[in-house]
Order: sequence, then structure tokens, then C-alpha cells
Amino acid sequence: MTGTGPGTGIPAEHRLIYALDRMTLAEAIASVRRLCGVIKIFKVGPALIYEGGLQAARQIAQAGGDQGVRIFLDMKTWDIPETVRNTLDAIEQFGAGTVLFATLHAQALTRNAAVQPQAKRSFKLLAVTHLTSLGQADLAAMGIALSVGDYVLRMAERARESGCDGVICSGEEVGRIKARLGAAFLAVTPGIRPGGASVSQEDQQRIVTPRQAILNGADYLVVGRPIREASDPLGAAQAIQAEIADALRERG
Ligand code: C5P
Repeated sequence: MTGTGPGTGIPAEHRLIYALDRMTLAEAIASVRRLCGVIKIFKVGPALIYEGGLQAARQIAQAGGDQGVRIFLDMKTWDIPETVRNTLDAIEQFGAGTVLFATLHAQALTRNAAVQPQAKRSFKLLAVTHLTSLGQADLAAMGIALSVGDYVLRMAERARESGCDGVICSGEEVGRIKARLGAAFLAVTPGIRPGGASVSQEDQQRIVTPRQAILNGADYLVVGRPIREASDPLGAAQAIQAEIADALRERG
């Protein structure tokens, strides 16, 4: 699969990010070796970092050999500005060349305490707006009267004002974010379920298919269980890549 998808010039085969969840470092490395012909970006979360530190991220990227594998470091930092800055400095110092994306929580951002300037970062910084496992009732329980769509948009605005490169949101909110904040502000969408409502959502509440996420304007799709738990993970990844490529052509 080659070519760049229309819009932001991202190579089509880079748009699928595989979440290396519920596996040891050894299993993650084996998984990257099996899938790196089809997937180029792998998401590493706290469990793998607790096991092997940022060195684990480097080992995982190296498992891709000459395939140009890069890491989505999903630590979802949520702290005071000084600690956030320290965290980002550490990612820069220890992860440069390996880490392509890192995440923090949009709620922790304030306009007057912006994260370090984009020019100084070798990675893209993404803000989590509202976890895709949460819905309207969860916002209400937190005492927030906004609709999910309005809340996610507000968090996205804060993220852009604070100097983030984009957000994590569900495929349902992408269209409004792109319309308000422009095509260059990245939208990365988990909560992807090929086959839509006919498949198990597990703990996810706001789900869309790969096709719908791309048609709504998503730049990158994060997928975990639909690949990991498939009887043929490589085949599942290839099918999602094909669906993304078709949707990019349809998006035009
Ligand atoms: O298995 P599944 O495809 O549901 O995995 C989705 C991945 O995306 C998980 O690794 C989860 O941590 C991550 N994620 C999410 N919702 C967010 C941000 C990240 O599901 N808002």
C-alpha cells in the first residue's frame, strides 16, 4: 500500500496505529516483528514502560528493523504545568528519534502555562479530550453540563491554544474539530470497531468503523483488541489498512 491520503499528506499505511496492550515486552517485540510490514506506528502504554522504561519503546521500534517503525507513547500525563514540562523534556531527551506521538490530558492544560514550544519538540503532542470509554452520563457525573461533542470541542480548543499538535477524540467528534480548528490540527481516534455495532464494544462507548473515522476526517486510527484478539491479527490489520485506503479515496 502506498501513497499519501488526501488532506494532510500522511502516508496511508501510517494511519493505522496498533495498541500493544496486555502483552509483555517480549510479546510486544514479537508482535512488531510480525506486523511491521503492514503497520508502522505502535502504541506503548504504561504497562510496557513500567516493565522496561523508555528503553522498551526503543527496543520495540528497533524490532521493526528497516521498516521505519515509530512509537506512540501513550502515558496520558495529567499534572501541574511544571511537571508536564519536565515530562515532555524527558521524552525529548530519551525518546528522540523513537517517539512520534506522546499524550497528555487536555484538562491539565491552561493557556497561560503552555507546553514547551512545538519548534523544540521532535514528537507530536496530543491531548486526550474525553476517553472513548466515557459517555454523556460520565460527563454529567463529573458535574459537566455540556454535551460530549461540545466538551470535546472545548478541550480541543484548549489543546490548540496550549500548543498541542492535535487531540485524541472519538470518530464521532472529528468532523466538528476539523471544521473549527482546521485540517492541520491532528485528530487521532481510538474506539475503532471494524463491523461497527455488530462487534463487541468491550469497555468503549463511542465507537465508529475505520471507514467512518476516515470519512469524518480522522488523521490516525488507534486499534487494539480488533487486531490483537483476531484469529489472524495480520489479516485483520491488512483488512483495516484496506478499509482506510478505500475511505481515503472516497474522502477525495
Ligand atoms: O482495544 P481497543 O481498540 O479498544 O484499544 C484502544 C486503545 O486506545 C487503548 O490502548 C486505549 O488506552 C487507547 N485510548 C482510548 N481512548 C482514548 C485514548 C486512548 O481507547 N481516549
